[in-house]
Amino acid sequence: SVVLAVLLVATVGGPSPGKDLKDTVVSRCRTFLEMNEPETSKKLCEDAWAAFARAFVGRDPCEVPVEAYDPLIYTIEQKSRCGRTLFWSKTKVLAHQFTQEKKCMVTVEDTLLGFIMDGLTWCGRNGSNGVFTTGCPGWTQCQLNPVRSFWGRVSAAFAASSCGNAAVMLNGSLATPFDPTSVFASVEVKNFNSTIMTGLTVLLVARKNDSASCGNSSLQNLQQALDPMLKYQCKVVQQSQILDCIADTTMPCGKCW
Ligand code: APR
Repeated sequence: SVVLAVLLVATVGGPSPGKDLKDTVVSRCRTFLEMNEPETSKKLCEDAWAAFARAFVGRDPCEVPVEAYDPLIYTIEQKSRCGRTLFWSKTKVLAHQFTQEKKCMVTVEDTLLGFIMDGLTWCGRNGSNGVFTTGCPGWTQCQLNPVRSFWGRVSAAFAASSCGNAAVMLNGSLATPFDPTSVFASVEVKNFNSTIMTGLTVLLVARKNDSASCGNSSLQNLQQALDPMLKYQCKVVQQSQILDCIADTTMPCGKCW
């Protein structure tokens, strides 16, 4: 009968999608802290969940402003990373392969909040205290959706805290590697703090037979969008060269390009 009672509770009060999201968020958070900063109390993970949920629970999923995540951002201290920030646009897989293998650079998905939410979808509903992971608006369906606003806020904080020389991997196979609608262009570049940042190096990732060039007109737009105090550099790098460098564990990452 104990087994039956447990079964009954499990079925009736059974796990909701919201509970699954909370479990995922808290367990990813604990994993991250264990691997990266074991001295930080895991209580931070419960606090982060509470601040995160408050941003979108009970709200129309197309009316979650970027600022709704301010309390979450303030809960999690941004570590300053001098000379180690890696931005990316349309190069997600390669950028992450690189930072996973060579620990010299960090993408937003290698920071606590980015690591926790990477690949997840979530939203609330007006007049409900539920957390949903399906039936949520897509990235472009409405501007102020909970997922897009989250990445907008986290990316702004990530860019604002980047210090020294930063790098960005852009996709040299595209006609417009610096896409004005991307998070990199529309959020990150606008949040660079030129009092702590010294420069930006564009790594224009090319594949065989690409006509990738640092003279690309979208890159001129990037250069113009930067504070003139920042030193701009651009380098065409073959994707195969980066992959070889990732594969060669003896290669120090400063030598990858
Ligand atoms: N539909 C769905 N998802 C999208 C869309 C879209 N139209 N546009 C962007 N995304 C989401 C996806 O999750 C995608 O993997 O944003 C991610 C990155 O999109 P990109 O266009 O490749 O790059 P960008 O918009 O520049 O964002 C990456 O933002 O989060 C920061 O530091 C990070 O520098 C990086 C940049």
